[in-house]
Amino acid sequence: MKFKLVFLISIATYPIYIFGQEQAWEELLEKGEQLYFEDVSCWVCHGDNAEGRVGPSLQYGPTPMMMQDQLDSNPQMAVVVAELNPSIDDLIALASYIADSNGHEVTHTDLQGWRAGLELMAANKQDNDTDFFLTERDLLVMQIQDFQTVIDDWQRRAEPGSLKREYEVEVIETYDPGDIKFTPEPNSLYFYENTGATARRVYDASIERTDLNQVVVGNATSREVVTSGKMPRELTGAVHTTVLTPDGKYVYIIGPTTGLPQMTQGVTPSPAGMGMGMSVGSTVLRSTATLLKVDAFTLQPIKQLAVGGRMHHAQIFQDKYILIDTFVSDPDGLDIFLLDPVTDKIIGGVRSEDLGGSTYTAFTDDEFIYVLMQPGNDGGSIVSAAYTASGQHAAWRPFWVAKIDPETWEVIAEYPYRGYRGDWIVIDNSGENIFVPAAGSANVTKVNTSTGAIEWSSAVGMGPYGATLNADETELWVANKGEGVGGVGRTITVVDVASGRQLETVFSGYGIDHVLLSPNGKEMWATSNAEGRIYVFDAMTREQIKTIDMPNRGNAHGLVWVYYDEEGEGKVVRDQGNFHNGINPFDGFTVGN
Ligand code: HEC
Repeated sequence: MKFKLVFLISIATYPIYIFGQEQAWEELLEKGEQLYFEDVSCWVCHGDNAEGRVGPSLQYGPTPMMMQDQLDSNPQMAVVVAELNPSIDDLIALASYIADSNGHEVTHTDLQGWRAGLELMAANKQDNDTDFFLTERDLLVMQIQDFQTVIDDWQRRAEPGSLKREYEVEVIETYDPGDIKFTPEPNSLYFYENTGATARRVYDASIERTDLNQVVVGNATSREVVTSGKMPRELTGAVHTTVLTPDGKYVYIIGPTTGLPQMTQGVTPSPAGMGMGMSVGSTVLRSTATLLKVDAFTLQPIKQLAVGGRMHHAQIFQDKYILIDTFVSDPDGLDIFLLDPVTDKIIGGVRSEDLGGSTYTAFTDDEFIYVLMQPGNDGGSIVSAAYTASGQHAAWRPFWVAKIDPETWEVIAEYPYRGYRGDWIVIDNSGENIFVPAAGSANVTKVNTSTGAIEWSSAVGMGPYGATLNADETELWVANKGEGVGGVGRTITVVDVASGRQLETVFSGYGIDHVLLSPNGKEMWATSNAEGRIYVFDAMTREQIKTIDMPNRGNAHGLVWVYYDEEGEGKVVRDQGNFHNGINPFDGFTVGN
C-alpha cells in the first residue's frame, strides 16, 4: 500500500514521456496544434509561434484555466467562443501544445490539476444560473450597463447648421512692456511654462514661496530655466495653460478675475472629504477672467483683454490663430473660439448650448476642432468624477466628442466614447483616430474618426489627464494626474496604440497633467502642477532623464517649445495641441538635439 502510493506520486510528478505514454501524449499535442491553427483560432491573434500579435505572447505557457478565463471575460476572444467553443479536452490539448512547443514540461499532475480546475470552473458557472433577487432599479441598470446601448441610442446633440457666434474683444488696459529679460540665441530651442503659486506638494522650507503668476523660459537643450517674469499682483489670477503666438513673441495667460463668481447650475459646493485639492464652486474656478498678453522677451504684460470667458486651455491653430476654450464664460461670451493674435480679435466661436451639452477642452489637427462634451449644462463633472471614485455616484449620462469644421462652424460628427469625463484628445497624424483619456473612469478610448467605431478602451492609472503619442505613433503616454481624486496620481501609463494593451507604468511626479513629446521626437516632458516641476523622460528607454524645478516651484501648467533659426527668427514648434510651423516628428521633421 505504502509502495503504491509513493509510485503514484512519482508518476504524477515526472514528465509524461518517461513513462512510455508517448503515444497518448503525441496525440494530445497533435490535437492541440490542430486546434491552435483552426481558421479562427489562437494563431490569428497570438501568432504562429505564440509570440504575440494583437493578443499577448503565450510562450510562457498559460494554463487552460487562464484560457477559459479569457474566453469567459475577454470580449476580443468572443469570436473564439463562437467559432471554436473549446471543450475541457480541447483546452487541455491547447495548453499542452503551447507549453510543449515552447519548451515547458507538462506533468501528469499538471494534466490532472488542469482537468479538476476546468471542471470546477464549469460547475461554478452553472451555479451562476441561480436566480438572484433583482429590484426594479437593478433591472433598469441591467438594461443600460452595456456601452453599446449608448451607441445604439445615439441622437445628435448639436444644433444643425452653422453654430458660429461672435464676440467683441475689449482692450481693458495696455502696459509698457519694460526691459528685455530674455534674449534667445539663434539656432536654439527654448521652452515656455506658465506657473502659478508655489505648488501644493512642495514641503521644502528652503523654497521661497510665491502666490504670483510667472512666465518661465528655459533652454530646452540643456533643460534649464533661463529666466522668469512675475506678473504684477493686481494682474495675477488663476493659472492655467501655456500658449504663445505662432511667432513666439507673445504669451497669453489668464488675467485677474472680473465680475461676480458664477455658480454654474448643478455644481454643488465642494463636498467635504472629496479630496480634490481645489474647490469647485469657489470664486477661483467659477468666475470669468481677463486675458493677459505678455511680451515673451520682457516677460511682462502689455495688454489686458476682456474675451468673454476664463481661458482654460489654448493652442495654435493653422500656425495662425489661437484656439481657446474657457472654463467659465460671460452670458454673451463664447465657450470655444479662435483668436487672431495679430489683431487680438475673436474671429468666431461656439457656445455650449448650441453643441447640446457643456464644453470642456478643445483640440485641433489644424483642420477640425474636436471638443470634449459633457452631458447637461453643469460644468461640474469633476464633482461627479470625485463621487464616482468614492462610490457615491453610480451612473452618468454619456460623454462625447463633437467635431467642428471651422470653415462652416458646423458639427460634422459626434463620437460617444467609453468612460466618463474625458480630459484630453490626442489626434493621430493621419486624423484617422482620436484617443480620449477619461478621468472619471480611469480609462483611455481609441475612436476611429471616419466610422466612430471604438477600436479599444483600456484601463490606465487614476484620474488620467493629458496624453501624447511617441514619434512613430506606436505608443500613447497617458498622464495619471489623479484628476478628481485629489491629484494623488503620480504615474504615466504607456499604452500600445494598436491593441490598447498597457506596456508599462512609468513613475513620475504628483499631479502630472500634461505630457508632451518634445520637438526632437526623443523625449517626453511631463509637467507636474502639484510639485512645480517638469519631469523629462527618454521616450525610447522610458527612463527619467531630468527634473526641472520651476522658479519658486510655481505650479506648472502646459508647455510650449519655441525654436529660433539661424536668423534668430522665432517660431512655436510645439504646444499642447500639436507640432507647428513645419515640425512634425511623426513625419521625421524635428528640431533640437
Ligand atoms: C481575436 C483575437 C484573439 C484570438 C483569436 C485569441 N485571443 Fe487570446 N487574447 C486576445 C487578446 C487581445 C488578449 C489580451 C486581453 C487583455 O489583456 O485584456 C488575449 C489574452 C489571452 C490570454 C491571457 C494571456 C495573458 O498573459 O494575459 C490567454 C491565455 C489567451 N488569450 C489564450 C488564447 C487561446 C488559447 C486562443 C485560441 C483558442 C486565443 N487566445 C485566441 C486575443 C485573441
